[in-house]
Amino acid sequence: MRTAVFAHRGSKANRPENTLPSFEEAMRVGSDGIELDVHLTKDQKVVVMHDEKIDRTTNGKGQIKTYTLDQLKQFDAGSWFSAKYKGEQVPTLVQVLELLSDYPGVLNIEFKTDRNVYPGIEARVAQLVDRYRANLPVVYSSFNHESLIRMKKIDPNAELALLLWERLADPWRYTQQVGATAQHLWQPSALSETAVQLHEHGIKVRAWTVNKPKLMQLSFEMGLDAIITDYPEVAIDLRKSY
Ligand code: G3P
Ligand code: CA
Repeated sequence: MRTAVFAHRGSKANRPENTLPSFEEAMRVGSDGIELDVHLTKDQKVVVMHDEKIDRTTNGKGQIKTYTLDQLKQFDAGSWFSAKYKGEQVPTLVQVLELLSDYPGVLNIEFKTDRNVYPGIEARVAQLVDRYRANLPVVYSSFNHESLIRMKKIDPNAELALLLWERLADPWRYTQQVGATAQHLWQPSALSETAVQLHEHGIKVRAWTVNKPKLMQLSFEMGLDAIITDYPEVAIDLRKSY
């Protein structure tokens, strides 16, 4: 099976990450999957951004959780990247789900719950996905594996992926205990014997963040299940030779 190409925060290299234009571009180039990150606002709305703070990717300052959605929508999430995207707003998960309504690929939702800042986010996300994307493939990932365990209790059919930096001693056993079907591994950890071991146990391996053409090629040669990349168009083009 060919290695899938997942667009990291959309087409992050050439669009403002985690915005609607970034996801539109990821779809336009034919990405097999789209990865994004979710947080909760003060009024418990699910929004898409990477950092817990809005400082880096908007013209505002402070924590997402201290703003209501209406307040957050006042900030500009595009100008930091390029004047061309001036006025771009922080998207809600609902907006992205609506944008992807006819998308034939996979949506990878990462819970940014590493510091347990958003109690209840898993149930809110499950409810939205159920309402807007009921029969389409969604993979939930998180560095906070407790978040994934909570998601499994909410939806026993949820497809889970453990986000990991390091290779684990017995990677398949732990993955199965959590109820995950995949590991999303930091690229140096994924491009290793661990990938072979995981595959032997039927566990998928997706590597992040694979941006260098040589590492993309190595991932294709090793038969990883997916790469998560800022450059989906480059990766899709390179993959034509495999
Ligand atoms: O899902 C892979 C990757 O997105 C995890 O790291 O920091 O880019 O969210 P980060
Ligand atoms: Ca992410």
